[in-house]
Amino acid sequence: MGRILIFTGKGGVGKTSMASAHAMLSAEQGKKTLIVSTDMAHNLCDIFETTIEKTITNITTNLDALEIDSNYMMDNEFSDMKRAFGNMIQSSGLPLGTLEQLSLFPGMDELFSLLKIMEVYESGEYERIIVDCAPTGETLTLLKFPELLSWYMEKFFPVGKVALRVLSPLSKVMFKIQLPDKAAMTDIEKLFFKLIKLQELLKDKSITSVRLVAMPEKMVVEETKRNYMYMNLYDFNVDGVYINRILPKDIDNEFFNEWIEIQNNYTQELNEIFVEVPLYSIPWFDSEISGIKGIRTIASEVLSEWEVFEVKDIHKGLSYEPVEEGYLLKLFLPSIDKEGLDMHESTSDIIIKVGNFKRNIPKPNALRNHSISAAKFVDQHLLITLSGQ
Ligand SMILES: Nc1ncnc2c1ncn2[C@@H]1O[C@H](COP(=O)(O)OP(=O)(O)O)[C@@H](O)[C@H]1O
Ligand SMILES: [Mg+2]
Repeated sequence: MGRILIFTGKGGVGKTSMASAHAMLSAEQGKKTLIVSTDMAHNLCDIFETTIEKTITNITTNLDALEIDSNYMMDNEFSDMKRAFGNMIQSSGLPLGTLEQLSLFPGMDELFSLLKIMEVYESGEYERIIVDCAPTGETLTLLKFPELLSWYMEKFFPVGKVALRVLSPLSKVMFKIQLPDKAAMTDIEKLFFKLIKLQELLKDKSITSVRLVAMPEKMVVEETKRNYMYMNLYDFNVDGVYINRILPKDIDNEFFNEWIEIQNNYTQELNEIFVEVPLYSIPWFDSEISGIKGIRTIASEVLSEWEVFEVKDIHKGLSYEPVEEGYLLKLFLPSIDKEGLDMHESTSDIIIKVGNFKRNIPKPNALRNHSISAAKFVDQHLLITLSGQ
């Protein structure tokens, strides 16, 4: 089974460097590897010192690269999906042109980056796909979009039959979905089905890992904490954090001594937050690490020490447990306090809001007649009791 590693983190922390070094190491281990950039400000071409086309480009033995232009993808490779989306909006009665339709859903065009990644994954051509993402906020918008769109589609558009099959009792959460008969589906249903498959792929812990890149300094640590919490809110498996640009301990210089002290404190804080997540320390290199040579150095001198491609099952995810009163929904949400959390429910959903992000968690069909009877926050877990009427 292939692997997908998604690198994200604050701007400038070293995402592209880390993703590229992983890709290089992977290729050197003899695994067919693709590095994909979904950041509109692509710079794989700078790192690999070559021109990377809008289609897959070979870099070196076992290593290919792709800088995704989502508009190009939408127009050239997924025009049927684009049309389906247009039809869907049309069936809603809104008199809009295609571009307006797309801009109704921020994140829509980037969706095509994810669809491309899924298509490449399913082709089976690559053993490892390394994804170099845009900074935190944009990546979160990207990763939560398939779920959000399928949620809207299920609510407001005619995807009825497929939705019922796919989202049958507890199935989305607990069991693998059943394959509906593809030929019998409309375009819109096919798009919906693809979105469900995409979520399954991105949330399958044995395939997809999210890796956070950080640096030991205040703003970055704060953003990394939030990022981790949101990734958990949306059910992604964060199974590695890279602390990049660690100063060597043996410089004896007053200026650097102070920085080393600061770095030690934040490294310790990161260790306390990510108790269960593997942390990898990456030294601050004394020369620019761009270029294939630099990337090879990180791969061979640093990353090769660890089993960085192994699946690490860290994320506990969202779970439902039967309890005396009904069901207990359990969700791990690290580094927040109760005050930052807002929650309510409708007949079909539980809505959890933290800061600027919210998630609609559809109640499994079997629990639609259940409602929230208690909620508490214990040991970084949100525990919601759902009881029948
Ligand atoms: N460990 C490191 N030591 C020295 N320079 C680094 C290190 N990590 C990243 N850099 C440099 O920092 C800059 C930003 O890194 P980059 O990987 O492009 O970050 P991001 O993709 O997160 O914006 C680049 O010039 C890169 O060469
Ligand atoms: Mg980058």
